[in-house]
Amino acid sequence: MSYFDLEQLNFRYPNQKTGGIEDFSMSIDKGEIVALLGKSGSGKSTILRLISGLETPKSGTLRVNQKIIFDHNINLAPQERGIGMIFQDYSLFPHLTVLQNVMFGVSRKGKKEREKKAMDILAMVQLQEHARKYPQECSGGQQQRIAIARALAAEPNILLLDEPFSNLDEELKKSVREEIKDLLKKCNITAILVTHDKGDVGAVADRVLHIA
Ligand SMILES: Nc1ncnc2c1ncn2[C@@H]1O[C@H](COP(=O)(O)OP(=O)(O)OP(=O)(O)O)[C@@H](O)[C@H]1O
Ligand SMILES: [Mg+2]
Repeated sequence: MSYFDLEQLNFRYPNQKTGGIEDFSMSIDKGEIVALLGKSGSGKSTILRLISGLETPKSGTLRVNQKIIFDHNINLAPQERGIGMIFQDYSLFPHLTVLQNVMFGVSRKGKKEREKKAMDILAMVQLQEHARKYPQECSGGQQQRIAIARALAAEPNILLLDEPFSNLDEELKKSVREEIKDLLKKCNITAILVTHDKGDVGAVADRVLHIA
């Protein structure tokens, strides 16, 4: 058994006639970064949605650190799974400041304490000077780091990143890839990175899994 096991997942959207996820299995070690590579429409985002609990598999088992988070009797809610997700479009809250976006991820009580923790994480991604801005006043690379900070604030066991570099230009992509890899390694976070860019794989992932 590994740190994170997906066993024989099956899923199809209600209106989906062909394809879908069929007997998908994979195992990931603690702290490992795995890239999931596959062409558009192959089901990469769907697999992340199944893992995070946004969609429910027809069958299969999901296990984190020997604890079942999904099987034929158990189905933990997304917020109970200890899994963080960074969406393809970042999904930041436009009406909240950078700091408030990150504070949203912090679960501990007390405004002062949440604010301190959020500021510490913003420092880690080098955004403390932008804390009072709104996301739309930040660059693409900064928005991407805000999304990462918000996800890390919840102290996830596993982080899922869906095409996190697709909105960045080539220059920025290079530096952000390195920053993310350093950050994930420093925090010993287990991660799945979905991409169709082979450059991401070489720069960030420990291992690559191709899906058809
Ligand atoms: N909400 C939905 N309802 C019905 N079908 C969907 C839905 N979301 C995705 N699909 C279909 O499921 C398949 C897999 O979609 P998915 O978004 O997982 O692909 P992907 O690998 O992430 O693609 P991309 O690289 O373009 O992001 C596609 O055929 C898609 O059309
Ligand atoms: Mg996708």
